Amino acid sequence: MNAQMLETILHRHPKDPSSIIQVMLDIQNELYYLPRDVLNYVSEYLNVPLSRTYNLATFYKAFSLKPKGKYPIAVCTGTACHVQGAIKIMEQIERELHIKEGETTPDKKFSVESVRCLGCCGLAPVVTVGKNLHGRIPTSKVSKILKQYE
Ligand code: FES
Repeated sequence: MNAQMLETILHRHPKDPSSIIQVMLDIQNELYYLPRDVLNYVSEYLNVPLSRTYNLATFYKAFSLKPKGKYPIAVCTGTACHVQGAIKIMEQIERELHIKEGETTPDKKFSVESVRCLGCCGLAPVVTVGKNLHGRIPTSKVSKILKQYE
């Protein structure tokens, strides 16, 4: 993150410890993750103990300390989805994007991870891409779904 972008984000919010979550959300929205050097700077700037900042970064699912794609893909591998072929879906996504689970594409467009039960087992197998949920997807539709985000 360049200094100007960070300054713009910091000036959107009061220079007060209570702004920490909002600032972190803005950084996450820009970069799709929270770089450690940026978190260190923000902690000091807002006078928030570094331990608190990292606790927030690891507690809330909206935050990631590892680079994520603009469209994070979550493949449900809970029991119902597993039975309906979630592993094959994951393998197909990995083949399409040329990355492995836990990785991000070089253009930072997609990242992929597995999650446990998204709470809609009736739609198994389920995959989310960003905020969108795709249910009952056959392996053959993976490519078409990913193309929607290009
Ligand atoms: S197991 Fe996949 S949504 Fe429940």
